[in-house]
Formats: sequence, C-alpha cells, structure tokens
Amino acid sequence: MKTNSWILLHFCVFILLQITCSQDPLTWKNIDCGTEAPRVGPNFLTWEMDHDFTPSGINKRLPENQPLDEMTTLRFFPNRMDQNCYTIPAYKQNLQYIIRAGFYYGNYDGLSKPPTFDLYLDGQKWSTVSTSTIGGPIYVEAIHWTHGSGSIGLCLIQTRNGEVPFISSLEAMPLWTHLYLQMETNSTFTLLNRTNLGGNEIRYTGLLSDEKYNRIWTSGSIPPNCKKVSTLPDSTTPTLQNDPPKLVLQDSITSNTSDPIILTVDSPLNWTSQTAYLVLYFTETATRPTIDDTRIMDIEIDGRMMYTVGTEINQCKVVTLYPVPLVGPTTNIKLAPSRLSTLPPIITAIEAFTRVNIDVHNDPPPPSSAASGDNSTSGAWKRFCVPYIVFIYISSAIFMF
Ligand SMILES: *[C@@H]1O[C@H](CO)[C@@H](O)[C@H](O)[C@H]1NC(C)=O
Ligand SMILES: *[C@@H]1O[C@H](CO)[C@@H](O)[C@H](O)[C@H]1NC(C)=O
Ligand SMILES: *[C@@H]1O[C@H](CO)[C@@H](O)[C@H](O)[C@H]1NC(C)=O
Ligand SMILES: *[C@@H]1O[C@H](CO)[C@@H](O)[C@H](O)[C@H]1NC(C)=O
Ligand SMILES: *[C@@H]1O[C@H](CO)[C@@H](O)[C@H](O)[C@H]1NC(C)=O
Repeated sequence: MKTNSWILLHFCVFILLQITCSQDPLTWKNIDCGTEAPRVGPNFLTWEMDHDFTPSGINKRLPENQPLDEMTTLRFFPNRMDQNCYTIPAYKQNLQYIIRAGFYYGNYDGLSKPPTFDLYLDGQKWSTVSTSTIGGPIYVEAIHWTHGSGSIGLCLIQTRNGEVPFISSLEAMPLWTHLYLQMETNSTFTLLNRTNLGGNEIRYTGLLSDEKYNRIWTSGSIPPNCKKVSTLPDSTTPTLQNDPPKLVLQDSITSNTSDPIILTVDSPLNWTSQTAYLVLYFTETATRPTIDDTRIMDIEIDGRMMYTVGTEINQCKVVTLYPVPLVGPTTNIKLAPSRLSTLPPIITAIEAFTRVNIDVHNDPPPPSSAASGDNSTSGAWKRFCVPYIVFIYISSAIFMF
C-alpha cells in the first residue's frame, strides 16, 4: 500500500514536471507596454514591463481597465527625433518566430483622435497601423525568421503631423516546431486573417492549452447560406501541418445546399504586397448520410481554379496555397462542390498571410543599437528540466528497492 502511493506520487510529479518542462511558453516574451509592474496573466503567462526594451516613450494607463490586462496600459512616443524602437532579445540561432504587436487606443489622450503610423520590423517597413475609437484591440502579427542576430527590432514611426504612435503589447514566440513550411526563411509574412469557422475564439489558455504557439484563432461569422456543423478532429495523423488546435478542428461550416461557400479576406489599407500565403483546414463530420457519399471541393481564388480537395472521415486535410497573386484589396475564396461530389462543401478554418515587400525602402529608421542576446534563465531551465526528471525518476526507483 505504502509502496503504491509512493509510486503514484512520483508518477504524478513526473507527469507534472514533464508537462511543465516540455512547454514552449517558458521561451516566449510577453511584454505589457507601459505597465509599472510585471504580472502573471490568467493563462499563467508572465507579462514583463517594457522599460528594459526601449529607450524612449512615456507610460500611460487608460482611464478604465480593459478585459485583456495588457491593453490597459500603453507607451506613446511623442518625440519624432527619438529612436522609438523596441529591442526584443531572441535566441542566437536561425529560428522562426511569431511576432505580435497589440494596439488599443482607448482615448488615452482624451483627444478622440486615434493615430495612424508605421511599424518597422528589423529595419524593414512592416505595416501601417490605423487605430480606432471603436472596436477592440488591433493586432499586427508576422511569421519572421531571426538569423542568429540575438534580437528583434521593432520601431514605431510617425507619418502624420500630430499623430503620435503608441503600443499596448508586444509578444515574441520562437517556433521550436517549424510551422508554415513553404514560407521562405528570408521573407516575413504578415497575418491577414486566422479564423476558426463555426467555433469560438481560441487562444492559449495555460499549460494544457490546445493552442501551443500563442496564436489567436478569431471566431468567424457564418455566411448566410451556411450552417455550423460538428466535425471530428483528426485522430490519425500524428502532427498536422501547422499543428492547428483540436478545438478549432471540432467545428466547421457547410453550405445548406450545393451552393458554394464564399469567404473573403481583406488586406489592410494601402497594402502593396502582391503575394498571399493561404492555408485552408478541412475536417469531416463524424458520419455521412450514406456510405457512398463523397465531399470533393474545387478551390477558386479570385475566380482562378487553384486546387481540388476531397475530405475523408476521421482525417483532417490541410491545403497550403502559395504563392497566390493578390489582385485587389479583397481576396475571394470560393469552395464549390466538384462534379463528382454528393455532399456540399465544408471548411473548418483559414489562415491568410501576405509576404512583406522586400524592395520597399521608404526612409527606414536607423537600426537599433542596444542589441543583446538572450541568455534567459527560462531557456536554461528548460535544458535543466529533462535531466532533473530523469534524476527524480531514478532516485525514487533506487529508494524503493
Ligand atoms: C529568398 O530565397 C529564395 C530561395 O529560397 C530566393 O529565390 C529569393 O531570391 C530570396 N529572396 C531574397 C530577397 O533574398
Ligand atoms: C441555412 O441553414 C441555417 C440553419 O439551419 C438557417 O439558419 C439558414 O437560414 C439557412 N440558409 C438558407 C439560405 O437556407
Ligand atoms: C477573415 O475571414 C473571415 C472568413 O472569410 C471573414 O469573415 C472576416 O471578415 C475576415 N477578416 C478580415 C479582416 O478580412
Ligand atoms: C493611403 O494612401 C493615400 C494616398 O497615397 C493616402 O492619402 C492615405 O492617407 C493612405 N491611407 C493610410 C491609412 O495610410
Ligand atoms: C551568453 O552566454 C554566452 C556563453 O555563456 C556568452 O558567450 C555570451 O556573451 C552571453 N551573451 C550575453 C548577451 O550575455
């Protein structure tokens, strides 16, 4: 009896340590801009203060607390002459990162005049941010490769008189599992859309989270000719392309009739990129009306036939389309039943990115100086964890016999 509970205890410790130690979140940087104290969020992520990462700007707290704590404070940059940049430490290796900057104006200056300004990522024009007095936080996110420089530079550049740049949050997640395999390592891809069709918004929720990379899957509205259906997450493929969370895969939309499903993806204002990277996720319902039914879809982008995909029960299909030429500010994705299909089209989730133009060189900001590598304790702890588990395991075994 005593031995049994001893084994059980050690087994629990073992599992707990394994869960804790195998998590990537220990290597993420979550920066709450403008805050006066570090804090641990509801999903156990640690949000750091930002003063170590930028030499300029002024902290500000919004008059009202926001649902997401990191949006309650911000840092604004009234002086155009300053280097209004952040230097985020990164691992000194060739590594793919998710970089996400968050902006919530909240009328912090009492002027009801939300600014528009530019963002530069590692010296390259990344995006124009147009903030608003309506709606929630705005996020600008990219898949970006660091090339061993040991840091990532983000600069905020004023482009209009009297419109002062600000930032509310800044996050950097190294992808220890290489995702989005067709993206070239010498390019940066800005996220346009990541939508969980038929389901709720999915975010990282803590150690056992289904979303392991801190991506945000927003909840999509259901087109009028469609309805929500439950679908079965994949149980056969060990790792699906881009590792979508199971919670995203368990709901989909299907059209009521044999009409096509039409999805639209908007590009930001004045977007100049010519090339998109689209990922479509397809999961099938648990059962089909009859055993002979088939669901085969033709995928058309802006009227051009791109791909044909057939779904299978208990299997998730991931279709990556790249490079896709962008012809206008709105991209239309049409899923039409193919001639041989007996069932209407279905879709589970979409992701859309655009490749950041490499040749845009309109007055880039001065490169950031205070670059430093990351010798973070969290990385060290991760390396320490595995031997520690082995040690506990072996020592308990020795103790018992
Ligand atoms: C990026 O790499 C691809 C091949 O992987 C190459 O064709 C392309 O010219 C490169 N682009 C730049 C800007 O270096
Ligand atoms: C499709 O089905 C949903 C749910 O059954 C319904 O709300 C919607 O009105 C239908 N749309 C059309 C065009 O029939
Ligand atoms: C993202 O895609 C969904 C599905 O097509 C659409 O409802 C939503 O409006 C899109 N968002 C943007 C910003 O394009
Ligand atoms: C887009 O470009 C036009 C003309 O170049 C300019 O007037 C407008 O302010 C720009 N919009 C944004 C959001 O930058
Ligand atoms: C990190 O550690 C390595 C080896 O311990 C050292 O060579 C390097 O200078 C350190 N980097 C920083 C930024 O402290």
